[in-house]
Amino acid sequence: MYVIIIYKLFLYLAGVRSNISKNKTIYNFIFYRENPDKSSTTYKSSNFSNAFAKFTTSCTTSSRGRSIIFTFYIMYLAVSLWGTVNIKEDFKETDVFFHESYLHDQFKSFYEYFNDYHMRIHLVIEEPIPYWELKTQETLKNFTVEVENLPFMTGENLTESWIRYYSNFINANQNFFRTDYTNRKVFIYNLRNFYLKINPYKSYYHDIVFNKNYTEIIASRIFVQTSKVNKTSELRYVVNSLREVAARYPYKISVYHPFFWVADHLNKVAWITMTSLSTAVVILLVISLIFIPSIKFCLITGFAIISIQIGVLGLSSLWSVDLNNLTNVSLIISVGFSIDNISHVLSSYYSSKKRDAKAKLTETFKFVGLPIFYGYATSCIALFALILAQSAVYINIFKVIFTVLTISLAHSIFILPILLSVFDKPNNNTIRPEVQYNKVPAQITQEAKLPEQDPLPV
Ligand SMILES: *[C@@H]1O[C@H](CO)[C@@H](O)[C@H](O)[C@H]1NC(C)=O
Ligand SMILES: *[C@@H]1O[C@H](CO)[C@@H](O)[C@H](O)[C@H]1NC(C)=O
Ligand SMILES: *[C@@H]1O[C@H](CO)[C@@H](O)[C@H](O)[C@H]1NC(C)=O
Ligand SMILES: *[C@@H]1O[C@H](CO)[C@@H](O)[C@H](O)[C@H]1NC(C)=O
Ligand SMILES: *[C@@H]1O[C@H](CO)[C@@H](O)[C@H](O)[C@H]1NC(C)=O
Ligand SMILES: *[C@@H]1O[C@H](CO)[C@@H](O)[C@H](O)[C@H]1NC(C)=O
Ligand SMILES: *[C@@H]1O[C@H](CO)[C@@H](O)[C@H](O)[C@H]1NC(C)=O
Repeated sequence: MYVIIIYKLFLYLAGVRSNISKNKTIYNFIFYRENPDKSSTTYKSSNFSNAFAKFTTSCTTSSRGRSIIFTFYIMYLAVSLWGTVNIKEDFKETDVFFHESYLHDQFKSFYEYFNDYHMRIHLVIEEPIPYWELKTQETLKNFTVEVENLPFMTGENLTESWIRYYSNFINANQNFFRTDYTNRKVFIYNLRNFYLKINPYKSYYHDIVFNKNYTEIIASRIFVQTSKVNKTSELRYVVNSLREVAARYPYKISVYHPFFWVADHLNKVAWITMTSLSTAVVILLVISLIFIPSIKFCLITGFAIISIQIGVLGLSSLWSVDLNNLTNVSLIISVGFSIDNISHVLSSYYSSKKRDAKAKLTETFKFVGLPIFYGYATSCIALFALILAQSAVYINIFKVIFTVLTISLAHSIFILPILLSVFDKPNNNTIRPEVQYNKVPAQITQEAKLPEQDPLPV
């Protein structure tokens, strides 16, 4: 909606400029074209485009301009790489809601007042093991103790372990019962018919799964309690350390809590983002190779896209955008944004009939300089609407897209011309197929036809 309004505004400006803005020099400077000839279909660039093309070309072909740009580029690359390496995977529940939402307050008070004992974690022994053997009991006891002593755990007082209590119960009453509890039948019989019938121990009935004829304990579980877990990074630490401890024991033990998906997600998100990004880049390169059939241009496009993506990852991470499945989406979309300006410049350059790189660049920027700026300006204005939304999701989308737009603009104006002028030697061009556009591309022709106006008084 917003974009449409902005687009209409620009159309309107284009329409009324002959009426209203005739007198304003700045408008003349931007929109005035030399000798607007109504019958001609060739493109007459405005003074702004000319000046812009001249500026860009001289910047990117003179050695002084190149060295300045190169210095900036190295700085940009260093900062971006640093940011990319330090990218953080984090997810805050409150990010998803608007700041006015009551859920925001709810989470805040949860973390402030109700977080002392955060999670009750299930340790599930998933396979039938000989619980009646003393060695098994000792191993399980060692396991539980090790888990209880991990950071963010409350210790033994809030643990509920039926096997620990049952074995304590057996030891305490050894002299009284005088039976051999290391026998499977005795162990299970007394567990079912005696121990689990006593009142305080009844609740463990749900922690043990017997097989149909009660000859085996198929599975069982132990509960342990965490203390304060304030952040998702801490949750992730808890989950990973629990799994690591469980994997060290010879039984098939899994750890479970309904919140663990957050940690699982954060463990995977970097890999998912990197594979999605590289897949998107490869697909883009294939597509660009179809439309501009030249390996050299494809390599230049690839270099530019990768450089832009490093910048987007690094700079947005420095701009406190954490990696999670919400920002992931905008990062992947940003690959699409990064190709926009580059493809404009490249296709215009490719179709230019001039001989040497400098002349081609000048012509290219006469054609695409203004459209690139319009595109950047309109996209940014539309993006600023996202800032008004008081929710971190929208703000993060704004940050990522704004970064990619800005970086890709800078790349298409400064980096790409340098690459083209360095790598596109005039003698290589003779093999190129016949240039496609004898006239100008459709959209530019439209632009050229647009001014149905009298020559402006200057
Ligand atoms: C152009 O100028 C005429 C006469 O001054 C005016 O009637 C018309 O509304 C103007 N058009 C626009 C689009 O402003
Ligand atoms: C535009 O300039 C002409 C003369 O050049 C003047 O008569 C006219 O009033 C100006 N219009 C505006 C809106 O400034
Ligand atoms: C645009 O360029 C032409 C030719 O270089 C010049 O005559 C004219 O004064 C310029 N117009 C503006 C508004 O700068
Ligand atoms: C967790 O958050 C609460 C309230 O925000 C704070 O008082 C407490 O110190 C934090 N604990 C840790 C370990 O960061
Ligand atoms: C349990 O831990 C103790 C002390 O670390 C150790 O001596 C013992 O061998 C362990 N038992 C088993 C079965 O791993
Ligand atoms: C467990 O409870 C006992 C008795 O109340 C207490 O002395 C001990 O400090 C508690 N242990 C932990 C780790 O809180
Ligand atoms: C108990 O059931 C299992 C299969 O569930 C079977 O293999 C076993 O022989 C049965 N034992 C008795 C004593 O019936």
